[in-house]
Amino acid sequence: MNIDLPLTLLGGLSPATFMKRHWQKKPLVIRQAIPGFSAPLERAELFDLAAQDDVQSRLVIQTPEVAATPWRLKQGPFARKALPALKKPGWTLLVQSVDLYDARVRALRDQFRFVPDARLDDVMVSYAGDGGGVGPHFDSYDVFLLQAQGQRRWRIGRQKNLDLQPGMPLKILAQFEPEQEFVLDAGDMLYLPPRYAHDGVALGECMTYSIGFRAPAAGELAQEVLQRLAEQARDEAGDALYPDPGQGAQSQAARIPAALAQFAQSAMDKVLRDPLAIQRALGEYLTEPKAQVWFESSPVEFDANQGVCLDRRTTMLYDDAHVFINGESFLASGRDAGLIRSLADEQALSGAQLARLSQPARGLIAEWFQAGWMNHPLEK
Ligand code: SIN
Ligand code: CO
Repeated sequence: MNIDLPLTLLGGLSPATFMKRHWQKKPLVIRQAIPGFSAPLERAELFDLAAQDDVQSRLVIQTPEVAATPWRLKQGPFARKALPALKKPGWTLLVQSVDLYDARVRALRDQFRFVPDARLDDVMVSYAGDGGGVGPHFDSYDVFLLQAQGQRRWRIGRQKNLDLQPGMPLKILAQFEPEQEFVLDAGDMLYLPPRYAHDGVALGECMTYSIGFRAPAAGELAQEVLQRLAEQARDEAGDALYPDPGQGAQSQAARIPAALAQFAQSAMDKVLRDPLAIQRALGEYLTEPKAQVWFESSPVEFDANQGVCLDRRTTMLYDDAHVFINGESFLASGRDAGLIRSLADEQALSGAQLARLSQPARGLIAEWFQAGWMNHPLEK
């Protein structure tokens, strides 16, 4: 992607300017970010997704008549009959990770690839009847809220006080102090940085797509990386038992022998001395498929002449030394590395590009294809 080219999607800003001025800093309202946008997913298709066991969905119902709990939250899946009547006001259905299930929504998500893939979380689609919304709240992550159908009135504010109402089943701000208000039509979009207070209320039937960007927490990353390093330590240090033929008789029986502490230290050192170990563990973690994703092996024989493209559920990233795909890491260098990185960036390689790969690298691609991680272009 040319990051210096102005994009209609960003209201005429280039990705470079948007990232500098707005990302994690200040909101942006973009009128007709996608001119003439028509929601790729019909209401009925969204309801079908919400009925599936492996799709994460939630239903938020406003019950202002119940003063103590004016909000109700239910977790999916939802049979069609379990959803409130369309004419009933004040409810919202939220369906997570729709980009995993629908190629058109995935294509929409790909328009935001000026942000690193490692930051992208998912596209959540919400359907609301008149007056529906999830209440005034803040999110911890950056989000683009694309109006997909109908209208939604947004009120937003950059308040410092982010205390929540106690005892609610969802995050509702105790005190909401909106500073700006606007109505978004289909094709309009609002970017919000993390922790920016907002409240979107449907004006009639309304669908909103949230393209969300998760930022990993430091503690979470440390835990995930250390867990992988621990597994590596176990594999590498093996089952060798602590040998102490030189252990003398000990008068202080409870004292840990210094040699035993040294033995533990050198078992750890082996892993920590590997300069690539942390990078490898990080890439494997970042490309781990989401819990609801599984792959079925391809029924089609791999034909290198046809080229490949990534299956939309595949996550592929790279660093200077490795390529990561769906939680696995591979060392890559030279021409192979260049081509495989291009597969990660462009999400496809042509037959001619595959022909330039070394035999072992092409063998790897064939394995990934057979595992269902990639397809021939027309099957995507
Ligand atoms: C919605 O789509 O209803 C809510 C999205 C949000 O406020 O984050
Ligand atoms: Co929100």
